[in-house]
Amino acid sequence: MSTAVYPGSFDPVTLGHMDIIERTSKMFDKVIIGVLNNNVKTPLFSAKERVNMLEEVTAHLPNVEVQSFEGLLVDFLRRNDARVIVRGLRAVTDFEYELQMAQTNRVMAPEIDTIFLTTNLKYSYLSSSIVKEIAFYHGHISQFLAPEIEKRVRDKVDELTKGAV
Ligand code: PNS
Repeated sequence: MSTAVYPGSFDPVTLGHMDIIERTSKMFDKVIIGVLNNNVKTPLFSAKERVNMLEEVTAHLPNVEVQSFEGLLVDFLRRNDARVIVRGLRAVTDFEYELQMAQTNRVMAPEIDTIFLTTNLKYSYLSSSIVKEIAFYHGHISQFLAPEIEKRVRDKVDELTKGAV
């Protein structure tokens, strides 16, 4: 059985991520979305919240499952008996970082390959960070996120901004 891992922060999952997930689910028997849970970055949503949101928006894809992970990505793949990492490439600016990660992962785990999918042109500018920034300034984010995720972002921003007053 071919298993691919699509790793990321997904803080929150955007329509750009969804496009990659849907395309990947057609290429592999099983796709595991690996949600990074590390202490270095401070995410807007906890790992549990990010996993829940991803489960909600991928419920229609029976071969997709969601897990959070800590530590090295290659160890997460090994634990899940997976050999392929999938990453989306938006623009040439992504390339250097992605190449560095793919090559480092390959040195650490030669049995694991990284494949890149070019993002749909519709979403080539999109990032979770930009969506969060727009949300904090009360801009429209409905064109970037699934409706249920949009609501979660709005609620979270309200919760945080109320707390700050
Ligand atoms: O969505 P992101 O934040 O660009 O995803 C980055 C991610 C999660 C793929 C990367 O940070 C990662 O794999 N982290 C796990 C730790 C690890 O294995 N680091 C070495 C990679 S070279």
